[in-house]
Amino acid sequence: MRERIARLREDAVAALEAAERPEDVEQLRVQYLGRKGKVTELLRGMGSVPPEERPHVGQLVNALREELETLIGRRKETLAAAALEARLKEETIDVTLPGRGPVLGRRHPLTLVLDDIKKVFIGLGFTVVEGPEVETDWYNFEALNIPPDHPARDMQDTFFITDDILLRTQTSPVQIRTMSAQEPPVRIIAPGKVFRVDADVTHSPMFHQVEGLYVDEGVTFSDLKGTLTVLARELLGRRPVRFRPSYFPFTEPSAEMDIECIMCHGAGCRVCGNEGWLEILGAGMVHPQVLLNVGYDPERWTGFAFGMGIERIAMLRYGIDDIRLFFDNDLRFLRQF
Ligand code: FA5
Ligand code: MG
Repeated sequence: MRERIARLREDAVAALEAAERPEDVEQLRVQYLGRKGKVTELLRGMGSVPPEERPHVGQLVNALREELETLIGRRKETLAAAALEARLKEETIDVTLPGRGPVLGRRHPLTLVLDDIKKVFIGLGFTVVEGPEVETDWYNFEALNIPPDHPARDMQDTFFITDDILLRTQTSPVQIRTMSAQEPPVRIIAPGKVFRVDADVTHSPMFHQVEGLYVDEGVTFSDLKGTLTVLARELLGRRPVRFRPSYFPFTEPSAEMDIECIMCHGAGCRVCGNEGWLEILGAGMVHPQVLLNVGYDPERWTGFAFGMGIERIAMLRYGIDDIRLFFDNDLRFLRQF
């Protein structure tokens, strides 16, 4: 009997040492210590042991049971620790690997220019408003004192959707929408897309304008000149500007503002068409008929308005000689800003 106990112990210890997986250890526990296990079986064989030896043999079997319980517990712990170790090793992060830097986006040059324009006018107490890109004839033309068949319609070759609905050719309809909706004083700028049947190196069928409108008591042409001179200086630095008489049906008097050509400094080149000057905006005093069209009393209120091409400003500021670069979305171009 003693021999049986000793052999059983040896077998169990060897099997435990060989067990590589927790489930193998569990299987051994059932095999040895379970209700039908080998150790339990030993106790059942006690009948064949002479009575005087039974207490001693019983002690041996119990000692074996306790020892195996301890060994099994320990083996389980060892295997669990090894498994954890292996997993940690596998999930190790090599912090010495060179990183992959985040790819930074950039603001589009037109957005940069528009943000600067907004900053100037917000500083002067103007509000930024927007209007629809699809307009009716009334807002884009008629209310702006451009009746049907008026030759001024030819100044802006229009994409019509129906006889009455069109893609706006200018941001000036936002003047009408704003004034129709509120009483003076009015101080707004209105940036947005406009559309014209027009395409070459300085003209694009879709481009951006910023409209400005200031209506109050006692607004004069000097306010217009002062405001737009400040604007040009903020956007393009201190360089010569000039106001040239012009014509718009919705302003009287009207002017266009030129800035000395950035490329040739006034000498004349391809970009300025040998003029030495580049037109950046159209402007003027709001025509009394326009004030009447929105229900303002032209005897009491006066105002100035202007419309500026954002692409034009960006071309001057960054020395870009082809307007189409803004819309190609070539990353090699966009990354430069
Ligand atoms: C107008 O659109 C008037 N609505 C401006 C205005 C507003 C005058 C308020 C008086 C009072 P004009 O067609 O000149 O005017 O266009 C204004 C500016 O838009 C031009 O100075 C130019 O900078 C820009 N522009 C005009 N056509 C194009 C085009 N096809 N591509 C890019 N920029 C253009
Ligand atoms: Mg013009």
